Amino acid sequence: MSPCASPLFFVPPLLSKKLYIKTYGCQMNVYDSARMADVMAPLGYRPTETATDADLIILNTCHIREKAEEKVYSDLGRIRKAHARKEGTGERALIAVGGCVGQAEGEEILRRAPYVDMVFGPQSYHNLPDMVMRAQRDGGHVVNLDFAPQPKFDSLPDQSSPQGPSAFLSVQEGCDKFCTFCVVPYTRGAEYSRPAADIEAEARRLVERGALEITLLGQNVNAWHGAGETGDWTLGQLIRRLAEISGLERIRYMTSHPRDMDDSLIAAHGEVEKLMPFLHLPVQSGSDSVLARMNRKHKVDFYLGIIEKLSKARPDIALSSDFIVGFPGETDIEFAATMKLVETVGFAQSYSFKYSPRPGTPAAIVEEQVPEEVKTERLVQLQALITRQQVAFNRSKLGQTMPVLFDRAGKLEDQLIGKSQYMQSVHVRDASAYSGKIVDVTITGAYQNSLAGEIHQPHARRQNVG
Ligand code: SAH
Ligand code: SF4
Ligand code: F3S
Repeated sequence: MSPCASPLFFVPPLLSKKLYIKTYGCQMNVYDSARMADVMAPLGYRPTETATDADLIILNTCHIREKAEEKVYSDLGRIRKAHARKEGTGERALIAVGGCVGQAEGEEILRRAPYVDMVFGPQSYHNLPDMVMRAQRDGGHVVNLDFAPQPKFDSLPDQSSPQGPSAFLSVQEGCDKFCTFCVVPYTRGAEYSRPAADIEAEARRLVERGALEITLLGQNVNAWHGAGETGDWTLGQLIRRLAEISGLERIRYMTSHPRDMDDSLIAAHGEVEKLMPFLHLPVQSGSDSVLARMNRKHKVDFYLGIIEKLSKARPDIALSSDFIVGFPGETDIEFAATMKLVETVGFAQSYSFKYSPRPGTPAAIVEEQVPEEVKTERLVQLQALITRQQVAFNRSKLGQTMPVLFDRAGKLEDQLIGKSQYMQSVHVRDASAYSGKIVDVTITGAYQNSLAGEIHQPHARRQNVG
């Protein structure tokens, strides 16, 4: 984690340049984009909101479903035009494709979009200064698909980009599980856990810079393990350690795999007050036969058993999940089992997707692909159920007073938006004094995707009553 000592890093302010990063996909990409900005800051690059006035354009991409990938190519087409306009002024912006499409497609991107200057994957962005220098100096294409995460984490500079009250911290990378539908093991590589001491140091820096909430990130975050003072620690032990950091008020982690929900982590939900009572635990399907074909290596009963244990440890825990409909060979009966599982658990929110065949994954070459119209019908049914549950969960909070972390401005004047402990968005008017703080809010309105509330003022109320 030592700052890079390249002489290139001493850049006079006059040489300030503009960096535009567009982020696609998961929170790990959000974290990576912020770190790319950190890596480029010492070279004089400052973030800009528009691609048109940028000197360096980075698309930090996602390969998880076909649509995510298509979006990158259509955005590249648009950016090319903006880039050409910039070229008309005699200035030349560099265009880079990073992230999971970069890793998966490599040189193919340069064939489809030859105006792209640089292609790199999620494990090589610490080399951005060198890539930019080579692209500028040589004018050709630069491709860097190095695959080991450790050198990246070892050479990233300390965070310098602005830090809000809610921060992401990547603790684990990659995946060894090879679910038959998924590209992640091919785009992010093998499972890697960062050392506990590095994570704690980064968490302390984030808190010093204003973070009240930290979400620990990993494709399989609960597979994290690492040497601690008392032997090989699991995520539950790491969370207990981070909870000791004064000033850190909230801890979350995502995304978890059911097989890695060990007893210490489940117990932490009951014992660590700072660990929020909300868990995203993707199950993908409610059918054992589909789960077996997906290579998930867990059954429905196992998943339900974990939820039972979690609810015992923390009775108010709220859950969310991911579902795939129309996995190859999925029958009506198998889909009905997914509907039944959702009915049984009752999720606070969930994400659901039509199966998207991904090149190089085993499920993509199975002959019994489910027709598109069947996938659509199933998705509509499942999403209607998920929405009903989400509305019911939100309504159950009406009249309650709960702590909300205000982390962004709303669209209306004097409106703030924050997060409840259960990841609900909460809108409050006349609240600007509370920006960046955790404040008790009484819930006065409940909608599908958000809650409305008023700042809880016990003293004012007592005075009124008295
Ligand atoms: N590591 C997490 C998921 C990461 S990918 C886990 O194991 O659960 C995020 C979500 O995208 C997955 O949970 C899955 O629901 C969805 N997904 C992944 N590959 C997909 C595909 N080929 N088609 C449709 N959805 C997919
Ligand atoms: Fe993909 Fe499965 Fe790994 Fe999750 S556990 S990242 S779904 S291969
Ligand atoms: Fe997408 Fe890569 Fe994340 S494929 S979901 S950006 S790990």
